[in-house]
Amino acid sequence: MASNLGSHLHLHLLGLLLARLGGRGCAAPITARLDTNDRPVVGILTQIVVDDVLKPFGKTYIPASYVKYVEAGGSRVVPIRLTLTTTDYEKIFKSINGLLLIGGAVDLETSEFARVAGIFYRLALEANDAGDYFPIWGTCMGMQLLTVLAANENLLTKTPAHNIALPLNLTKAAYSSRMFKDFPSQLMSALPREPLSGNFHHYGITVTTFMENEKLEHFYKILSTNIAQNGAHFVSTIEGKRYPFYGVQWHPEINPFQWNSKFQFPHSSNAVQLSSLLAEFFVNEGRRSFHCFADPEEEASALIYNYMPVFTGNFSGYQQTYFF
Ligand SMILES: *[C@@H]1O[C@H](CO)[C@@H](O)[C@H](O)[C@H]1NC(C)=O
Ligand SMILES: *[C@@H]1O[C@H](CO)[C@@H](O)[C@H](O)[C@H]1NC(C)=O
Repeated sequence: MASNLGSHLHLHLLGLLLARLGGRGCAAPITARLDTNDRPVVGILTQIVVDDVLKPFGKTYIPASYVKYVEAGGSRVVPIRLTLTTTDYEKIFKSINGLLLIGGAVDLETSEFARVAGIFYRLALEANDAGDYFPIWGTCMGMQLLTVLAANENLLTKTPAHNIALPLNLTKAAYSSRMFKDFPSQLMSALPREPLSGNFHHYGITVTTFMENEKLEHFYKILSTNIAQNGAHFVSTIEGKRYPFYGVQWHPEINPFQWNSKFQFPHSSNAVQLSSLLAEFFVNEGRRSFHCFADPEEEASALIYNYMPVFTGNFSGYQQTYFF
C-alpha cells in the first residue's frame, strides 16, 4: 500500500504517522519531533578477535572507543553479534538507525564479519532505494569492506600506514561533501596541514585502482587521499554519491578516546574537534531514520548498557574493550 503513494515524502510521512500512532510499537515518546528522530540507535557489528592478547576474553569484541564515539554524537549503541540468523538481522535492521562497521583484521569476503556486514549492506541498499534513509559508516577495515561490497571484488593492495598520524590531503569534492561542508573554516584549513588522522592499516585502495574501477567510481566520491609508508597513494576518505554510506581508512574514534602513548593517537584540540564533528555528522544521518524497536523492553535489552567493558589499556591499544 505504501508504495502506491509513490513519493519519498509520502513514505516518509507515512512512516512518521505509523511511528506516532505506535503502528510498529515504537519506543520513541510521542513528544518526539516530527521531522527528525532524536532517539537514534546505531548498530555496531562486533568484530572477530584475532589478537592473541584479547583471546582469553571472548570470541568477538568492540573497542569501547567506537561506542563512545557514537555516544558522543548523541546516539545509543546496539552491539550486533555475528551468530544470529538472517531473520534476526532483518529484525535488527528495522530497529536501528545506522550501522557502524569497525576496524579489524579478518577476510573481507569469507569471514563471518564480512558475511553479516553483507546482509546489512543489501538491506540498506534496498531501504535507501525505497526512500527509507539508512546510513552506514565504515572505519579502517570497515571502509575496506565497503569498497569490496561496492566493487564486488577485493581490490586491496599494500598501502601501509601503521601507527602514523597524517594530515588529510583533501580533494576538491571534500569542500562540497555532506561530510565536511558544514565544518568550520578554521578546521577545514587545519585538515590538510596538521596530522589529525591516526592510521593503523597495512592494506588499502590506491587512488589509481579506485579511479580505474567503474563500480567504485560510480558509487563513491573520494574526499581525501594520503601517501603510504611504501609511497602508494591511497584513498583515505569516501562518501557515497547516491547512498548515505561513508568510509574512512583512518580512525576518528581514537582521537578523544585512546591514550596508549606507544601509539600515534592525535589528541590536539583540532583532532578532537574533527572526531566530534564526524560523530555528530553520522548520528545526524541516523536521525533521518525512523526504524525502531518493537517495544521499550526489547530496546533496553539490546543496548550496549547491558555490557561492561574490560580495561585493556595496559596490554593493547584499546583503552577499554567490550567482549561478546
Ligand atoms: C595530494 O593529492 C594530489 C592529487 O589528488 C596528489 O597529486 C598529491 O601527491 C597528494 N599529496 C599528498 C601529500 O598526499
Ligand atoms: C592490566 O591491568 C589489570 C588491572 O589493573 C591487571 O589485572 C592485569 O594483570 C594487567 N595486565 C597486564 C598484562 O599487565
